[in-house]
Amino acid sequence: MSAVLDSASSTSTFDIRPLHDSLGAEVVGLDLSRPLSDADFARIHRAHLDHHVLVFRDQRITPAEHVAFSRRFGPLQIHVLKDFQLAGHPEILIVSNIKNDDGKPIGLGDAGYFWHSDLSYKAVPSLGSLLHAQELPSEGGDTLFANQHAAWDELPEALKNAVGGLQAEHSYLARYEELRQRSPWRPKLTEAQLAEVIPAVHPVVRTHPETGRKALFVSEHFTTRIVGLPEDESRALLAELFAHSVQDRFVYRHRWQPHDLVFWDNRSVMHLAAGTPDHLRRRLNRTTVEGDLPF
Ligand code: OGA
Ligand code: MN
Repeated sequence: MSAVLDSASSTSTFDIRPLHDSLGAEVVGLDLSRPLSDADFARIHRAHLDHHVLVFRDQRITPAEHVAFSRRFGPLQIHVLKDFQLAGHPEILIVSNIKNDDGKPIGLGDAGYFWHSDLSYKAVPSLGSLLHAQELPSEGGDTLFANQHAAWDELPEALKNAVGGLQAEHSYLARYEELRQRSPWRPKLTEAQLAEVIPAVHPVVRTHPETGRKALFVSEHFTTRIVGLPEDESRALLAELFAHSVQDRFVYRHRWQPHDLVFWDNRSVMHLAAGTPDHLRRRLNRTTVEGDLPF
């Protein structure tokens, strides 16, 4: 019997290969400039839930195609730093250390200086982010991802019991001034921007809405305090959780290759920019998909 090829349901051949024991897989042989069939989308969706970080190799896609693929996972969130939007594409945040001839930064150069989950400071944080390499340095510029399901699973029993029902506050402003002191990328926020980033409260341990797995959901970048605990206890507990959550065995280090598109799950992982030497240029485009209310 001959196979009937129907473009809406046919599958293309591509491989999904794990990159690390704990998280991360690369997708090889898939061209995201074309709309995905429902079957391919389902396979990618499943792989994203299983591996938490997907690296789509060699994606020669336009910003519009990047946005279109991102939208398949949900509505996109617009970053508060509107100065760094890609012209014509407000859904794209430029992440870059490059400055124009007049010395003005073209993008956010210190995104990811501290471990974090994107937009955890919003009442409705992000499902995931998609970062597409445009220009890569000859050395440095790696991005680290830490599996927060594994971090929860391996938390000592006493700590699990201590933090299980707690809530924590997340604030975009937590370390903003500190970053502003050491970088040229952080503008002084306007009243309108400040109104967009009022702090949010989320469970310290969240349940992934699609897999049901628990994950630690606190970060050194955005989490300011544990609700209801005295300041010193809150600080000590958060420090213990931060240190636990990013141990080497939970971390996949991504070494960027030209045209990589990396899609991570902000409900499952935290990430960190390892840093780029100042004299080398790095530029990537980011979209951020809206998630749902953490529980
Ligand atoms: C981000 C981010 C890290 C990096 O874009 O959300 O944190 O390595 N980037 O650029
Ligand atoms: Mn980030």
